[in-house]
Amino acid sequence: MTIPHLIDSLSSQGFFVWDDFLDKSHIKAIKESIPETLHDARIGRQSTLQGNKTIRGDLTLWLDPEMSDPIASYMQKMDEIRKVLNSQCYLGLRDFETHFCRYPSGAFYKKHIDNARDQNRRKITTVLYMNESWELGDGGELVMYDGKDNELLKLEPLSGRMIFFMSEEFPHEVLPTSCQRESIAGWFLTQQFL
Ligand code: OGA
Ligand code: MN
Repeated sequence: MTIPHLIDSLSSQGFFVWDDFLDKSHIKAIKESIPETLHDARIGRQSTLQGNKTIRGDLTLWLDPEMSDPIASYMQKMDEIRKVLNSQCYLGLRDFETHFCRYPSGAFYKKHIDNARDQNRRKITTVLYMNESWELGDGGELVMYDGKDNELLKLEPLSGRMIFFMSEEFPHEVLPTSCQRESIAGWFLTQQFL
């Protein structure tokens, strides 16, 4: 799979699943370099931030290229993709923000859209999965819906797999997981107030 496949699929159906986006050794190196300073995920903007385990139960950590070379090279690859998307799709993507997520056994993330109510800088969502030994029955699948709430896709969180989707178009949820589930979510951002 290549960037032209990504561009075709994003513009025709609004999402794209890229298997083996990163190889297993790169995933392992990223995992090993994540600092153990995860926080309860929070919902909403600054004035309304809340930890709410009835909506989502993951722990998160914002990533920075200074954390390690493997994290820097993942962010570098995403920045290259951002530039190609801008040159071919005129999306005006300015930045990429990304955090590591760990769902302990039993955690889930109820159906939602990624943009907090009063801001829409998030244009494209990305999620990179990091679960080397995921098996059917482990749960934690991503379920995506269309604007009419029809189920579009149920995706196993397999290591190395990355999904890209238009942030505002697809309500989605993470089904309860029965094993620890790790991923890196990211968002390509437009300029503020676009
Ligand atoms: C999110 C999210 C989906 C996933 O972090 O906003 O919806 O499959 N993640 O981890
Ligand atoms: Mn989401």
